[in-house]
Amino acid sequence: MDNTKKIIQDFLTDIKNNPTKIFGLIYPYILLVGLAVGIFYLYKINYIEESTIPPSLPAASQSKDLPLIMPSESVSGDISSLTTPTPDLINKGKSLFTASCVACHGANGKGDGVAAAALNPKPRNFTSKEGWINGPKLSGIYKTLSEGITGSAMVAFSNFSPADKFALAQYIRKTFVPDPPQDTPDDISNLVQTFHLGEKQKNPGQIPIKDAMILAANDNETKYEDILNVLKNIANDSQPGAEIFAKVTNNKMKALITLSNSSDWHKNVNTFVNVIVNNVNQDGFNGNVYDLSKSDWNVFYNYMNKFF
Ligand code: HEC
Repeated sequence: MDNTKKIIQDFLTDIKNNPTKIFGLIYPYILLVGLAVGIFYLYKINYIEESTIPPSLPAASQSKDLPLIMPSESVSGDISSLTTPTPDLINKGKSLFTASCVACHGANGKGDGVAAAALNPKPRNFTSKEGWINGPKLSGIYKTLSEGITGSAMVAFSNFSPADKFALAQYIRKTFVPDPPQDTPDDISNLVQTFHLGEKQKNPGQIPIKDAMILAANDNETKYEDILNVLKNIANDSQPGAEIFAKVTNNKMKALITLSNSSDWHKNVNTFVNVIVNNVNQDGFNGNVYDLSKSDWNVFYNYMNKFF
C-alpha cells in the first residue's frame, strides 16, 4: 500500500518538476480518442451521407412557365349568351361573389358581411328593395361593377371581364333579389354602347418565358409576332406539311425560331435538311426527322417556305 502511494507521489513530483512530460503521457490517449472518432465516422458514413441535404435547384426554375397563348381576336362579351341566367353563369357568379363580395355583402346578400360594421354607407342589402342607386337589373349591377359607387366602399371592379360582371349580376339577381326586374331591350343596347360591349378586341398572345429568352438572346425583336402567327397558321392547318411539322418538332416555337434565324435553308431541300438535322433536339426538332422520306422532305420544305 505504502509502495503504491510512494509511486504516485514520485510520479506527481516528477511531473511538477518537468511539466512537458505530461504530453508524452497524454499523447496515446489523444491518439485513441482520434481513432475512436474515425471509426465511428466510417461506421456511420452511410447515415451521414443520407442526412446531408442534397443540392437543389432554386424554386424559380421549378415553377411553371407561362403557357403559350396564340394571338387572337375576340368579341368582348358576346352578350347575347350572358343575358340569360344559365347554370354555368350562376355558378361562376357564385364563386366570384364568394371570393370578392361576401366580406361586405355577406353570404346571404344582406349587406352584413364581416367588414360591413365599419362601413358608412352600409353595403347594399340585396334582399331588400330599398336604397338601390343603379338598381338590380342586369344593366344596373353591370354599371355598379364597372364604375363603383362614388362616396362609398363600393369600388369599381375593373379587372373583371364583361362575362365576370354578368355572371355576378345573374347570381345576385337569381339568389338574393326578390322579383328581379327585367332589362328592356333599350337598357341592354344602352349598356352595350356605354361599355363598348360586343366590340372586337385584339389579344396579343403570349409565349413562355423560356422561348421569349431564346428570342431575346437571338436578337429577334421583330419576329416574336411573326413567329406566333406562323405557329397559329400551322396549328390551324391540316395540310401534309403541317402534319409533318407537328410530328418532327418537340418545341414548335423553337423550331420556328431555328428556321427564322437561318436564311441558308431557303436555297434548296438539302440545306433545309442540314439546318434542321445539324442540331436535332436542341433546335426544336426531334428524332422523327430521321424517318422522313425524300418526298416528305420535299413536302415539308415547300410548306415551310410559304411562311418565311
Ligand atoms: C368593401 C366593401 C364592399 C365590397 C368588397 C363589395 N361591395 Fe358592393 N357595395 C358596398 C357598399 C358600401 C355599397 C352601397 C353603396 C352606397 O349605398 O352608396 C355597395 C353596393 C353594391 C350594389 C348596389 C348598387 C346600387 O345600385 O345601389 C351592388 C349590386 C354591389 N354592391 C355589388 C357588389 C359585388 C358584385 C361585389 C363583389 C364583386 C361587391 N359589391 C363588393 C360595399 C362593398
